[in-house]
Amino acid sequence: MKINNRLSSIREYHFKGIDDIKNKLIAEGKEITDLGIGDPDIEVHKDIIKGLIESLRYDDFNRYPPYDGINGLKKAIIKYYREIFQVSLDMDEVLILIGSKEGISNIIPAVCDIGDYVIVPNPRYPVYEMCSYIWGCKPYKVPLKEKNNYLIDLSNVPDVIRKRSKLMIVNYPNNPTGATADKKFYDEILKYCVENGIVLCNDSAYNEIIREGKEPISLLQVDLKKQAVEFGTFSKTFNMTGFRIGYAVGNREVLKALLNVKSNLDSSQFKPIQYSAIRALSIDRDYVNSIRKIYDDRRKIAESILNEKGISFYKGDGTFYIWCKVPNNYTTDEWCQELLSLYGIIVTPGYAFGDLGHGCFRIALTKGKGVIYKSLNKLKVYN
Ligand SMILES: Cc1ncc(COP(=O)(O)O)c(C=O)c1O
Repeated sequence: MKINNRLSSIREYHFKGIDDIKNKLIAEGKEITDLGIGDPDIEVHKDIIKGLIESLRYDDFNRYPPYDGINGLKKAIIKYYREIFQVSLDMDEVLILIGSKEGISNIIPAVCDIGDYVIVPNPRYPVYEMCSYIWGCKPYKVPLKEKNNYLIDLSNVPDVIRKRSKLMIVNYPNNPTGATADKKFYDEILKYCVENGIVLCNDSAYNEIIREGKEPISLLQVDLKKQAVEFGTFSKTFNMTGFRIGYAVGNREVLKALLNVKSNLDSSQFKPIQYSAIRALSIDRDYVNSIRKIYDDRRKIAESILNEKGISFYKGDGTFYIWCKVPNNYTTDEWCQELLSLYGIIVTPGYAFGDLGHGCFRIALTKGKGVIYKSLNKLKVYN
């Protein structure tokens, strides 16, 4: 049997392999704390559940939804962008997605031809690289460096790549580093992309997961002509990872191309999930602040223990991740293995996000503060 050659460049999704190891250890009776995947443990707000259940009584709940999403959800996202970011959007500047992962993948064939380059960060959310290969494109990986606060530095893109690139994907607040971007940075990369005919996308999955007191920002705040696209999701802010609902906003031509791809691949998300997302956006903003406080408290505890244990880390303002350095004298694998075998802790090895992640590991603050305290406190002092 012959399999697509391009799949030889593609690894199994890291977290699928980890699930298999975890399930085996649990079956053997080991106590495991999973600080690996970014799947929040926080309860889903009751209004979201209510929205889901109530919409099951609508006459047409079981029918095909519109390909671009239901109007009510598009309007709710328009209102959200207006109130939070002071950005106004038209209906055709919003597209509903089956989770943002889906849209991030499908925007590649929407914009690029086979063989085109996609500029992506290194380290990065793995989907940008893997889906570039799946769709027959070439990811060009630009280093993110701590000395630049993990902001992408485009002076590292050679002219020949710049000319052959059609798409750039950035991600702030950033997974895995926790770094955030400011409007000046967005302005600079937008100028670069516009000058070079490259479609800029910001994956803003963690736009609301920022330290308390910080302002959420959007790429579209500097993109007055709507030349770029921003992806968002309900997964992280509203603990809806399994609900699979996200959106893309911004340039209408690009969204039309994305819808063209999507309408041939899927038929949008189950309507009740879309209705529950409308409810999510109508919850009082105190809720979002309470989520930030939960992660801030967890972060404080984790950071203080890591300091005591001699493990250094980047102090970012966003996401619920901590990007840490592997202690001296360990390879990344030896270290992650030691955390699992001695302390029962699963973390993500930095190389799961690209080769520049070697020597680093990521902690997800997706367990309660008691669990974080108990598990990290088991570590001896390193370095
Ligand atoms: C940076 C980033 N973008 C997108 C996603 C995907 O989110 P969704 O659940 O909307 O597909 C994730 C999930 O971990 C992520 O970390």
